[in-house]
Amino acid sequence: MEQVTTTRPHRGDELTLTIDTLAHGGAGVARHDGYVVFVQGGIPGDTVRAVVGKAKRAYAEARALEVITPSPDRLEPLAQHPGAPWQVIPYAKQLEIKQQQVDDSLRRIGKLDGFMLEPIVPAVQEWRYRNKLEYSFGTEGDADSPTPGQSRLICGFHAPRRWEDIVEVTDCLLASERGNQAREEVVAWCRAQGLEAYDRRTNRGFLRNLVIREGRRSGEIQVRLVTSPGKLDVDSLIAACPTANGLMWTKLASLGETTMGGETELLAGAERLEEELGGLNVSISGEAFFQTNTEMAEKLYALAIEYAELKGYERLYDLYCGIGTIGLLMAPRVAELWGLEIVEDAISDAIKNARRNEIDNARFFAGDVRLVLRELVERAGRPDVLVVDPPRAGLSQKVVRRVIEAAPKRIVYVSCNPTTLAPNAAQLVEAGYELTKVRPVDMFPQTPHVECVAQLERR
Ligand SMILES: C[S@@+](CC[C@H](N)C(=O)[O-])C[C@H]1O[C@@H](n2cnc3c(N)ncnc32)[C@H](O)[C@@H]1O
Repeated sequence: MEQVTTTRPHRGDELTLTIDTLAHGGAGVARHDGYVVFVQGGIPGDTVRAVVGKAKRAYAEARALEVITPSPDRLEPLAQHPGAPWQVIPYAKQLEIKQQQVDDSLRRIGKLDGFMLEPIVPAVQEWRYRNKLEYSFGTEGDADSPTPGQSRLICGFHAPRRWEDIVEVTDCLLASERGNQAREEVVAWCRAQGLEAYDRRTNRGFLRNLVIREGRRSGEIQVRLVTSPGKLDVDSLIAACPTANGLMWTKLASLGETTMGGETELLAGAERLEEELGGLNVSISGEAFFQTNTEMAEKLYALAIEYAELKGYERLYDLYCGIGTIGLLMAPRVAELWGLEIVEDAISDAIKNARRNEIDNARFFAGDVRLVLRELVERAGRPDVLVVDPPRAGLSQKVVRRVIEAAPKRIVYVSCNPTTLAPNAAQLVEAGYELTKVRPVDMFPQTPHVECVAQLERR
């Protein structure tokens, strides 16, 4: 019998690989002597030269250094942009891959079948769709060089897998033109003031991040500069940023990369962003979650409403409700709405949003779903319909058990990660629910992310 030997590559090895498919998360999948290699920067049909990073027993991870023979599908990138790794794949193909990945997760990870998979909802805009961008400051050239005149302050995004390096952007193609203008005003001012970027390796330096949020409907722009503790010439900063409707300054003493926490001061304008979503007027505070693609959030929520099949008599739970958007859009179609969310500021936004939209059948509570769902059921009574919209990690098995105990007739699961939806749906099916239908939604063109809405019915 012929013996097949597979030579396992090692870290640093350079390999020539042909990419067959794309894995969840977006890496290309290739085989080297039968051994699986996940290749960043390769798309199906490419032959690439790649360098191996991690090499494990079952698979290795590699990064494409050069495309030797491009896939017939491959497009020229519009711009170097770490936030748009799929821009080399035609949009119709991106949609096809996402649809396939949702199906694949449910069938292979969840071992589910018999559900209806509806066609993916394409994005309204393929570019300039984000209402929030978090930029990082960095230094081009050596900041510690004896001739610091040769170093230059830059603002952009972390390079993929080279965390300390920043790729400068001057026109971010995921942000609107006005959002870009607001960033450029702040960066020009920082340069004129001679301010230095924070160095993530040494924990020295001042300028850390720039967070720009945009009300796509209201036209409002909110700018938040995140720095290490120190001083700023506030009046000249305000004068230099005419595009911002609200200007904030966060001072952070912690190590590393985060834009959360610290001390935030309102320097000018409004602290909260006003926005309109699906006919609701919402007000969003700085640290509350808000879907980053406004136009597609409306489509996602409309789909959740459709899947909820509300008749008007229902008690509705909106778990992981953020500032209350999904529940508030459903509130006119139900008897009562109960929302639960862990971030207190988001809950106070949700309560205000209910009031300003004259919705009086809604109650919102701050708490951890894992710990307080039972208490909510004791207080409010069992839900008829339950909506969950958890973070990427999905629901823990314990939360799924609590949902099963709450025994809603129908569950609408809004998911930003099909690989965590799949085991959660499988646990629900095991407990007597039926996965009836699922529809992917493309909220993030040019990236591997895919959202979907699933409907589960108690049998
Ligand atoms: C994907 S967001 C959805 C928010 C909202 N449904 C929306 O569409 O804007 C997930 C939300 O879950 C909240 N969250 C995370 N862990 C939680 C927990 N253990 N209990 C309650 N809420 C949690 C986050 O703060 C965030 O607002």
